[in-house]
Amino acid sequence: MSANTDSLFTATDINGVSLRNRFAVAPMTRVSASEDGTATETMARYYERFARGGFGLLVTEGIYTDQAFAQGYLHQPGITDDGQVQAWRRVVDSVHQHGARFFAQLMHAGAISQGNRFRDTTVGPSAVQPKGHQMEFYYGKGAYPAPAAMSEEQIADAIEGFAASAARAVAAGFDGVEIHGANGYLIDQFLTDYANRRDDRWGGDTLRRTALVRAVFEAVRVGVGAGVPVGVRISQGKVNDFTHKWAGREQDAETIFGTLADAGASYIHVTEHKVWEPAFEGGQHSLVALARRYAPHVPLIANGGVQDPARAQEVMAAGADVVALGKVALANSDFPNRIRALQEVAAFDPTILGPIANIKPSELAA
Ligand SMILES: Cc1cc2nc3c(=O)[nH]c(=O)nc-3n(C[C@H](O)[C@H](O)[C@H](O)COP(=O)(O)O)c2cc1C
Repeated sequence: MSANTDSLFTATDINGVSLRNRFAVAPMTRVSASEDGTATETMARYYERFARGGFGLLVTEGIYTDQAFAQGYLHQPGITDDGQVQAWRRVVDSVHQHGARFFAQLMHAGAISQGNRFRDTTVGPSAVQPKGHQMEFYYGKGAYPAPAAMSEEQIADAIEGFAASAARAVAAGFDGVEIHGANGYLIDQFLTDYANRRDDRWGGDTLRRTALVRAVFEAVRVGVGAGVPVGVRISQGKVNDFTHKWAGREQDAETIFGTLADAGASYIHVTEHKVWEPAFEGGQHSLVALARRYAPHVPLIANGGVQDPARAQEVMAAGADVVALGKVALANSDFPNRIRALQEVAAFDPTILGPIANIKPSELAA
């Protein structure tokens, strides 16, 4: 590992929040909150390790945003009341102690919720049964039930949930918020042609299907004010449909990334299985390159399959400002420090996520 990695250790800035380097921890759900959605001491110790290990930015696991239909998983943390805010404050403080920045990922599971202590049924843009199967390592089993199509009022409530949670995240001390618009959850369901069959103002062509992400972004921006970074995570693939591709290909990329840029997103976080590969079959450009092209001035976080500094630098050369690491960070909570010290990195061991994906004592031992 002799290549010069200095470019990965330069500082950067997202909406006035400075990051000490280009390494972020990708959002990862670990179902380790208490049953009532309160962040735990285990979580504080888990997140603190990444900050101590040199990461510039941590993005939380997806946090549910309301006490209606948002929760996706049993033992998922929420940020819907004062008790949950106080619990997060403890986690945030332990991260800040080590010089990292911390963004809260705000998530509404929509039709692919598989565990919600507030509701027994699910909602989505349309009454279309989700593809795929529930995730057993998050306490799920079998097919997803068909959701009810959301009413105007339920959509308004969901948007308000994002805005109020974002304000609570700032109250908890988070440096920014990330709207989860990826991976098959509610906002992505609205973006997706086969899941969103609506013919009202929330559905239609690709531009019309961005209506929810625009509305959520605007409400969150009002909720937190101009000084707080508000980013959006975007993907093609979904936890329940890994290989999904946007039917409109590059034109869809232009519509989606252009819309987020016009809305004033503080950053875009793109995730793909291998984020450096061409986004579309037979195409040339990665989703990173397309986001850079159609949102030229918006800071860009790239995630997916990056496991070494050379790949991180390749992704940055394609236009990313920050590279987010998922599984390799689970195996190396001190990944940035190891790279800097020219030490070997450990391989990811998938057994850590079984049988349930909760945080294991062995992860906290080091
Ligand atoms: C255990 C686990 C939990 C995840 N939970 C989330 C999540 O809550 N929100 C999210 O946006 N992505 C989530 N992801 C996806 C990761 O952020 C990331 O996109 C994926 O692991 C690919 O990146 P990697 O190749 O660096 O691991 C999760 C991934 C894993 C492995």
